[in-house]
Amino acid sequence: MKGVKILGTGSHLPSAVVTNDDFVKFLDTSDEWIYTRTGIKERFYSTDKMNYQMAAAAAKNALENACVGAEEIDMIIVSTCSTDFFYPNTACLVQNIIGAKNAACIDINTACTGFISALDMARRYICTGDCDKILIVASEFLSRMQDFTDRTSCFLFGDGAGAVIVGGSDKPFYSVIGAKGDMLDALYCRIQYSGKFPKEGFDGYDRDIKEKLDTEAKNIYLQMDGKAVYRFAVDAMADSFARVCKKAGVESKDIDILIPHQANIRIINAALKSMDIPDEKVYVNLDKHGNTSSACIPTILDELNRNGRLREGSKLALVGFGAGLTYGSIYMEL
Ligand code: UT7
Repeated sequence: MKGVKILGTGSHLPSAVVTNDDFVKFLDTSDEWIYTRTGIKERFYSTDKMNYQMAAAAAKNALENACVGAEEIDMIIVSTCSTDFFYPNTACLVQNIIGAKNAACIDINTACTGFISALDMARRYICTGDCDKILIVASEFLSRMQDFTDRTSCFLFGDGAGAVIVGGSDKPFYSVIGAKGDMLDALYCRIQYSGKFPKEGFDGYDRDIKEKLDTEAKNIYLQMDGKAVYRFAVDAMADSFARVCKKAGVESKDIDILIPHQANIRIINAALKSMDIPDEKVYVNLDKHGNTSSACIPTILDELNRNGRLREGSKLALVGFGAGLTYGSIYMEL
């Protein structure tokens, strides 16, 4: 066994739609600025579900779509960077709701690259023969992490969850994942501890980190250097895509479906210039969803699956980047 087969997909989209014009009511901005700079028109905000509940709804949806019983799932991998609890992890909460009592439960966090990391990990458990069926859920509740006085970032993000059930396959599967951990400042959100960082003199105490993070204003919300992330994203996407194609021995013209991380249409278009893939093979939903971090890719997979676009033999590429900064690409044949 080399790769994975997609047995079913699901998603959960919150019911509240927040448009760009909604931001104009309290921010110095405009629909025109947001749309032309990002490609985003609207996004969904969760008003009635916590993150784990969105994750469970997407998981149930995927089980139905795959016609797989919850007890058949050997492992649940949840990707989230906006968890409700430090512990238990979200995968355990999902297990309890859907009744997947035979599943091991693991959460991972590589931010927006999370679905790619989870799929790469799932494939490894499947190829060793340790698991037959794995449920991957990427669920994000990003609206509650935004500083709504920060007009440079708060409009970018939305909430939602996507899920995919995978089993084994003999088809090719290749991945390239990596990180550039010296770029913490470009994108982070601190955990909301009420206390501060340890006092000077504490073993292992890092002055540099204190300088960057230990201020009242930076305690709670997402912090981003948009331009630094933008520059990194364009290069990281193009580079990891080229590397995964080389590993797989395919050329970009062979790809049938490319799903990039949905951060900004200008980032996607800039990366595409060097990827040499025509627009009609590239799938985008950020106009209606905004950036839902690791949930972006699986919600698109669910849309494509339900529209009959995930055909056997299709060559699929997933390309992403995120806080960390992290990056990754997967090439797989369906
Ligand atoms: O999953 C990863 C998550 N993060 C990202 O993907 C972020 C990647 N970065 C970006 O998407 C872009 O950098 C942004 C959309 C965040 C910003 O776009 P930009 O083209 O880099 O804009 P900018 O920061 O250079 O701002 C251009 C101008 C500035 O005015 P001046 O200095 O030229 O007079 C800003 O003050 O636009 C102004 N501006 C705004 N104007 C209206 C910044 N935010 C807004 C706003 N509405 N919301």
